[in-house]
Amino acid sequence: MRFLIDTANVDEIREIHEWGVLAGVTTNPSLVAKEGRDFVDTLKEIIDIVDGPISAEVISTDAKGMIEEGEKLASLSKNIVIKIPMTAEGLKAAKYFSKKKIKTNVTLVFSANQALLAARAGASYVSPFLGRLDDIGQDGMQLIDDIAEIFSVHGIETEIIAASVRHPVHVTEAAKRGAHFATIPAKVFKQIIGHPLTDSGLEKFLADWASMQK
Ligand code: E4P
Repeated sequence: MRFLIDTANVDEIREIHEWGVLAGVTTNPSLVAKEGRDFVDTLKEIIDIVDGPISAEVISTDAKGMIEEGEKLASLSKNIVIKIPMTAEGLKAAKYFSKKKIKTNVTLVFSANQALLAARAGASYVSPFLGRLDDIGQDGMQLIDDIAEIFSVHGIETEIIAASVRHPVHVTEAAKRGAHFATIPAKVFKQIIGHPLTDSGLEKFLADWASMQK
């Protein structure tokens, strides 16, 4: 499983990118609105930081509008992935982009059947939302299992992005169950990098080393 960062905050992207672990970035309209900056300017900055897939979501709800928006976004960089909602109109747009060899990420996926439909429409990626399923008392992780099994049984090449990741257990479990990517907020990156025994172990090593120097 590879790591994406789920944010439109360029400082967060820069910080985690410096760790050397980022394969790409996902954004969504809520994350972009939170930053209060121009979307295209933000994307241009992200493109300069990360050389990997950068998901940029369309706002239109009809296929024609999604296609118009998506083509403009795709013209920014070969790394832009058009993020499309999991609707009938979204599937039409995904099929269009697939024929044009423009990558798509079908988002707001909450069932295995939706993931299969998106894959058959030619989506490059599907984004099942773990945390939001957990929030309504359903098992988000089971959805990763189901999609991974179906894609494997049918030889489907669409890649799974575990999304709506809220805590470290989501990261480990998504990796074990075969998600190709997890898109993770900066806060969760900072949770998964640390361990109290790493901190105390390092402190002891340095103290022992210092004691030898006396
Ligand atoms: C996925 O691409 C979305 O941007 C994101 O993971 C949604 O997460 P949330 O449910 O925490 O808002």
